[in-house]
Amino acid sequence: MEIASVLISVCLLLSSLLSYPFLKKMKRVPKQRAKLTPGSMGWPYVGETLQLYTQDPNVFFATKQKRYGEVFKSHILGCPCVMLASPEGARFVLVTHAHLFKPTYPKSKEKMIGPSALFFHQGEYHNLIRKLVQSSLSPDKIRKLIPSIESVATSALESWSGGHIINTFHEMKKFSFDVGCLSIFGHLDSNYREMLNDNYQILDKGYNSFPTKIPRTAYHRALLARKRLNQILGEIICERKEKKLLEKDFLGHLLNFKNEKGEILTEDQIADNIIGVLFAAQDTTASVLTWILKYLHDDQKLLEALKGEQMAIYEANERGKKPLTWAQARNMPLTYRVVLESLRMASIISFTFREAIVDVEYNGHLIPKGWKVLPLFRNIHHNPAFFLDPHIFDPSRFEVAPKPNTFMPFGNGVHACPGNEIAKLEILVLIHHLVTKFRWEVVGSQNGIQYGPFPVPQQGLPARFWKESTNLK
Ligand code: HEM
Repeated sequence: MEIASVLISVCLLLSSLLSYPFLKKMKRVPKQRAKLTPGSMGWPYVGETLQLYTQDPNVFFATKQKRYGEVFKSHILGCPCVMLASPEGARFVLVTHAHLFKPTYPKSKEKMIGPSALFFHQGEYHNLIRKLVQSSLSPDKIRKLIPSIESVATSALESWSGGHIINTFHEMKKFSFDVGCLSIFGHLDSNYREMLNDNYQILDKGYNSFPTKIPRTAYHRALLARKRLNQILGEIICERKEKKLLEKDFLGHLLNFKNEKGEILTEDQIADNIIGVLFAAQDTTASVLTWILKYLHDDQKLLEALKGEQMAIYEANERGKKPLTWAQARNMPLTYRVVLESLRMASIISFTFREAIVDVEYNGHLIPKGWKVLPLFRNIHHNPAFFLDPHIFDPSRFEVAPKPNTFMPFGNGVHACPGNEIAKLEILVLIHHLVTKFRWEVVGSQNGIQYGPFPVPQQGLPARFWKESTNLK
């Protein structure tokens, strides 16, 4: 039997034997005590989905918070839900009472990524895969990737320069995909990388399209691409096994895993988790990078100060002849604050979803079993009680650490982002090479936001890049 099903069955059995009666006793809410949350459920069946998707989601959530307070109910995407806009609420769901909630995604999305990907799971199987991801993305491992990340960054920047217009977000996606591949496979043959990239792009296009089996639709094409991705990954795995390579990257960790009964992971479990990590790594990092370029472009004074910090490192490295070091990447205080402020300001993951597995009481509010629960990161990051003048881009606010649980760009608790260090590292490396050797100009007026699903500047921030002549080697 597959290791996952064994683990999940054991998990389910244990939880039904132990936790459920316990939870029932401890957390079932006496109906008369807890009250249902304020809010509106919209139209029958569709709820408020149309309102959410036809207006700026930030306005949707902010208006609700203003009207109903920090805990309110709604009905979106066919599900009743409770939204929590306070740090305490987010911590309750994600950390202190995480065992009362499970991750929840539409079945069509699970099928696309692969049902064994870690973020669909809770409990023992999730822990097991999470440990493997964490150990392959530990500071010790990622510091060794710096030279390779630098080479991906410089060749991307070279390809953008020359004054032609590029779609910044699309280019950043290619960059974050290549860095994602580095963290999963270490060095990967360029043929395999291209095949993975071609098919992943088709999958990416279909991910947010209407799920249907009708041939030639974006969703159907994406499902076919997903099958091809499995075949390509199968070949990569086969080659590794033949060469008896014992790599310490994520694929190596997945292949070398064996539990105390001698069971190993299936190829499907390995493939689903590789696609899962690529999926979690790509659009997130690319959107943040795109915002950083916009924020810096809009504030030339800040850009000059940041350039000063980076030029000092560039000079210390004999005008870029020596590679960046881990110590240098950890000591870029102004650039780092720009990254943190961009993460806050753009809050590209505005909220996350969980589902209550029993009736839960939070602060006198009833969250019925089966309801979705949404901790609203963006509302917290844009609350003036925690971040003064939240709509102003001001990296200096991070000279003082934010109050506990008010800054969660990478989530919190058992599902918090295990890729946060490599994400920050690749962003810093790209910024270093960008500002020390290139300049850029945003094309057209770029004040709108587009959602796909993460917020990015309108049209992916069209821009032109040039190599600075003084730094031509
Ligand atoms: C700036 C870029 C990134 C942001 C803002 C971000 C944000 C997040 C957030 C908020 C979560 C938690 C979601 C939840 O609780 O439902 C998450 C989970 C995750 N992230 Fe990231 N992420 C980024 C980059 C990355 C990268 C580069 C990788 C891998 C190389 C990665 C891998 C993952 C994985 C595997 C999970 C699922 C963890 C679990 O379920 O245990 N992320 N990320």
